[in-house]
Amino acid sequence: PKTRLTDRFGRTVNYVRLSVTDRCDFRCVYCMAEDMTFLPRQQVLTLEEIARVARNFVALGTEKIRLTGGEPLVRKDILELVREIGTYGLQDFAMTTNGSQLPAMADALRQAGLHRLNISLDSLDASKFRTITRTGNLSQVLDGIDAARDAGFRRIKLNVVVMKGRNDEEVPALIEFARRKQVDISFIEEMPLGQISEHDRGLALCTSDEVRALIRPHHELIPTTGDSGGPARYYRMPDSGTRVGFISPHSHNFCATCNRVRVTVEGRLLLCLGNEHSVDLRRVLRGHPVSDDKLQETIINAMDLKPERHHFSSKGDVQILRFMNMTGG
Ligand code: GTP
Ligand code: 5AD
Ligand code: SF4
Repeated sequence: PKTRLTDRFGRTVNYVRLSVTDRCDFRCVYCMAEDMTFLPRQQVLTLEEIARVARNFVALGTEKIRLTGGEPLVRKDILELVREIGTYGLQDFAMTTNGSQLPAMADALRQAGLHRLNISLDSLDASKFRTITRTGNLSQVLDGIDAARDAGFRRIKLNVVVMKGRNDEEVPALIEFARRKQVDISFIEEMPLGQISEHDRGLALCTSDEVRALIRPHHELIPTTGDSGGPARYYRMPDSGTRVGFISPHSHNFCATCNRVRVTVEGRLLLCLGNEHSVDLRRVLRGHPVSDDKLQETIINAMDLKPERHHFSSKGDVQILRFMNMTGG
């Protein structure tokens, strides 16, 4: 039987989120400052190093891997990495993307062995979409969603970060869109990652309770049981297969069932999204000789650093200096 990764609080870690780049073709207001500097090449793990990390996590019992960013599809030769990880026999192999490259890449991703896609979509209004993403183009993303469906991806999920005065009044329209496209949709409370002076998080925060109140006049939401232990609590509607998820780091803490860790593209193993505890895997990957045993030992020992919970503040005062594009969502 496989070794299992467990932490001091008895939680089993069987899900790893690997960030493959800090770069992105968008500049979403809640994720990046207007003027960002990106990592120099030598600090970034190579695709071979990322695959090595993935392979060793799988050897330690990891069943689910999600590739994140930045925007994973702007990483050169990303399909090679997908193809490689696709051979590891994972129960679930997914990617979170902004969708802009999907018109060209959805088919190839499916063929390379990716199982699932989560696609960010914060607005259906072209000009609001532009304001929120700063550089994004709505019609490209809508084409990307269609391309993902045509490529045969199942259980596609849309991610919406809800912000007061920016897109909160679009919640019902976004639900209609998800129902029409037969995809799931998650509404996310904004998390205070990174210092972004142009954007007032405290004012913008829209809680999941407030989002549910916006939906209730239009649809009955029936709680589902048997959630995967992830951060989202899911509801269904009586007349649709679309599931509606709520990710509520402020109003509903799900840390007790947390099953995941993250690896940044610099090779930092982050034990919790909302804390700075981390272990440097890059040093092991670039040590001499490179040893899988040493890498696995480092990963196993790192689990002792996983904190019990995060302490995000709803006032929006920044606690985590690391930006979301350096974190992988
Ligand atoms: P699944 O793998 O299907 O559970 O996807 P997901 O919804 O966890 O992943 P996705 O990459 O689509 O992220 C959606 C939102 O959930 C993002 O805002 C993430 O930052 C947030 N999220 C994911 N994992 C965690 C976590 O452990 N803690 C917190 N607070 N938020 C998380
Ligand atoms: N708070 C919550 N969600 C965020 N995302 C990016 N930055 C933040 C933040 N500060 C979301 C994106 C994407 C996912 C990876 O994380 O919208 O869907
Ligand atoms: Fe790019 Fe995603 Fe960050 Fe938006 S949220 S800037 S799409 S990495």
